[in-house]
Amino acid sequence: MDLRINRKSPVPLYLQISGAIQGLILAGRLPDGFLLPPERRLADSLGVNRTTVVNAYQQLKADGFVAAHVGRGTSVLGPRPEERGAGPVQPLPWLQLARDGAAREPDPLVRDLLALTERKDVISLAVGLPAPELLPIEALGRIHRRLLAERGAEIFLHSPTEGVTAFREAVCRHMVSRGIQCGASEVLITSGSQQALDLVARTYLAPGDAVAVEEPSYFGALATFRVAQARLLGVPCDGDGMRTDLLENLLARQRPRLIYTLPTFQNPSGSVLSLERRRRLLELAYRYQVPVLEDDPYSDLRYGGDAVPSLKALDRNGYVIYLSSFSKILFPGLRLGWIAAPRQAVRQLALTKQLVDLHSSTLGQWMVERFISEGLFSRHLEAVRAEYARRRDAMVEALQSEAPEGFTWSRPEGGFYVWCSFPERVSQSALLQKAAEEHVAFLPGNASFVGEPERNHLRLNFTYCAPDQIREGVSRLVRAYRAAAAGPRSHERPAGGTPPIV
Ligand SMILES: Cc1ncc(COP(=O)(O)O)c(C=O)c1O
Repeated sequence: MDLRINRKSPVPLYLQISGAIQGLILAGRLPDGFLLPPERRLADSLGVNRTTVVNAYQQLKADGFVAAHVGRGTSVLGPRPEERGAGPVQPLPWLQLARDGAAREPDPLVRDLLALTERKDVISLAVGLPAPELLPIEALGRIHRRLLAERGAEIFLHSPTEGVTAFREAVCRHMVSRGIQCGASEVLITSGSQQALDLVARTYLAPGDAVAVEEPSYFGALATFRVAQARLLGVPCDGDGMRTDLLENLLARQRPRLIYTLPTFQNPSGSVLSLERRRRLLELAYRYQVPVLEDDPYSDLRYGGDAVPSLKALDRNGYVIYLSSFSKILFPGLRLGWIAAPRQAVRQLALTKQLVDLHSSTLGQWMVERFISEGLFSRHLEAVRAEYARRRDAMVEALQSEAPEGFTWSRPEGGFYVWCSFPERVSQSALLQKAAEEHVAFLPGNASFVGEPERNHLRLNFTYCAPDQIREGVSRLVRAYRAAAAGPRSHERPAGGTPPIV
């Protein structure tokens, strides 16, 4: 329920709450029989005392709008049949019908970012996509034709939930280049690593469970954990990734159920967790018996410096659930990712996946299996690495020559993103608005934090656009920034939540 209260109003809070609910009932947005949230939950979400909500529900009951049932809660009483009349059919209140925690208040961020990919007039530095013109389309066509000739209908039929066996084996061979040794039975193919995050949340998290996350972190994972009604505990990061000294305190006091980390070319900050901290993180996980969820879609995309072993490669005790994806190097639209985890965890996660989508695309799995087995993946990786390093340099150089004072940025050794910071006095929402006018898009930094960040940040992607577009995009962003900096500082988020990206 979308209820607003005004603490400055002279109207008592319980009357504000009962009045707001009464309004929703009269507007037909809460149907007959709709169960109101439990008193304690509503009190927590509004930040008021439970007694305030109890009084509000009693008021609604006295006015004949709800009925209270012992053990079943409080439900809406629709108009009596004689009051209903034969009016038009009421629209269903979909927003109210979604269960608590589900995406009820539509957050336009991910949707708007993906929608941008269809807008030709906008330079998108917001999305996390590979360069479309570098995708090996011809090889894909050839593989597709050959698969059709050799395997016929098989590639369009159902396949095991865990994944096509030949593909799981190919994924294992691919992971050897990342220092990870595991067998096919320790691999579960997923529909992108976004699904892997969801499967882990569905399998291992109950409402109210705590999850330790880096701050900043991947906004899509934060959203998944929030929908699972987990409590997010932010662990600050610095240039060497997660502050494991602060993690220890949190593990001791809050006993999270999961540690979620992106140790290599983090999204959004691009940071790399140092080897020393990787070892420390694992020691802490072992000591406090907390599983580690390692999200690693970017480690193959290194443009300089030495590789650091993944947590999965360092783990000797089966504590790490490792996620990765083919979206960042090959074809995001094929929706293929994977989980590598102890066999028992793979079995549990596969049972969850079976209920969600039975299995990932059989055709896609066979195609990527061929890509790996024929050595095309490694060749393609080499080509994109060289090009993405060029694009990163183009972005960093454009920022060096154009960025105004106070605007700072990272130079990542790999991955997809440059992470920028700018002073508090420049409003994020004003910058978004000015950027929309300039037809350039970026990811606002606050989407990546659990709470309000101390500083202003934004994330720029350098792989999707060609270098010329990157330079033009940075110029537009700098113009937008100067315009936003010249305007008044607004502390208010605009009405309606996150403003549209363009
Ligand atoms: C860290 C991280 N995890 C997971 C995902 C989801 O990717 P996909 O579902 O396309 O594999 C992304 C995409 O941006 C990401 O950056």
